[in-house]
Amino acid sequence: MLSQLDQIEQTGLASLGSVQDEDSLQRWKVTHLGRNSSLMQIFDQIKGLSKEERPIIGWRANQVKQALEAALAEKAEALRQAALARSLQAERLDVTLPGRPALRGRLHPATQTLRQICSVFADMGFQVYRSREVETDEINFQLLNFPVGHPAREMQATYFVDTGHPRGDNPVLLRTHTSPGQIRAMREFSALDPDNPPPVRITLPGMCYRYEQITARHEMQFNQVEVLAVGRNITFGDLKGTISDFAKRMFGQNVRSRFRASYFPFTEPSAEVDIECFVCGGAGCAVCKDTGWLEIMGCGMVHPVVLRNGGYDPERYTGFAAGLGPERITMLRHRIDDIRSFWTNDLRFLEQF
Ligand code: FA5
Repeated sequence: MLSQLDQIEQTGLASLGSVQDEDSLQRWKVTHLGRNSSLMQIFDQIKGLSKEERPIIGWRANQVKQALEAALAEKAEALRQAALARSLQAERLDVTLPGRPALRGRLHPATQTLRQICSVFADMGFQVYRSREVETDEINFQLLNFPVGHPAREMQATYFVDTGHPRGDNPVLLRTHTSPGQIRAMREFSALDPDNPPPVRITLPGMCYRYEQITARHEMQFNQVEVLAVGRNITFGDLKGTISDFAKRMFGQNVRSRFRASYFPFTEPSAEVDIECFVCGGAGCAVCKDTGWLEIMGCGMVHPVVLRNGGYDPERYTGFAAGLGPERITMLRHRIDDIRSFWTNDLRFLEQF
């Protein structure tokens, strides 16, 4: 048995020399140290030996086992080192190469303008109020003085949402403008103190949707920023002063603005605001189509019906509102001639801002 153990030790150690990878090492381990290996069979036979033989064979068998285990551990470490060396060689890095600059994210140009509009109004005391994009016909139209069937609805062709339930005259829709936020905000504010509702000074930014023929100037999704002020003794003079001041802060201290009479069902009187063309200074050019003026928003005094629908008594309260289109303003400022560039996600366009 002693010579058998010598033999086991020699063959084991010798065959380990030809092991070159992890798989063959595992196979070697099963053959030489596994349950059915010759060495383990000797261990099994020890209990049948005489009292004198047992310690001698037992001691030698353990010695062989320890030698094989030590050789196995050494081989495993050698294979690990060899694999590491191979991968270091294969994945060698040239640390002297210049690094690739990380791409910096940026805000979408329309979002930049939208935030700038809100920030100019914030400096004048207007707080941002977020309203919802999915609205009801009642809030988007009816409470803003567009009754069912009113021809002014034609100005805002609408996407309706199929809710699976008949909703009669109050279907769900994607808001066509930010003005329904006026009703939501006024109702929330007036609920705080229905007899003496607090003043309102807010901007309402966000996405609007219209079932539009897409053209260079019209998209079916676009941002608006609504401006709303409600309180005691607010006059058209306050509207003009606030908007003229906004135009100066946004477009430059010397910019002139003008108001043209217009129509919206939810304001009376209503106006459209133009600023002097900042490209030609009013002389006439392609950007202002030779008029010298650029249109930047619609506005007016909040209609008494709308005030009442928001919980404000029109006998005691007045207000003004305005609506601006950040994409159109961005187009004017950067002389972008096609609104479709905003939503095609072309990095060559977006990276310029
Ligand atoms: C309105 O939507 C009114 N709610 C604005 C308003 C608010 C008036 C408060 C009075 C008081 P209008 O449809 O003109 O108005 O749209 C306002 C702005 O949204 C436009 O000047 C334009 O900048 C932008 N806009 C409207 N339709 C589109 C469109 N299809 N694509 C891009 N921008 C648009």
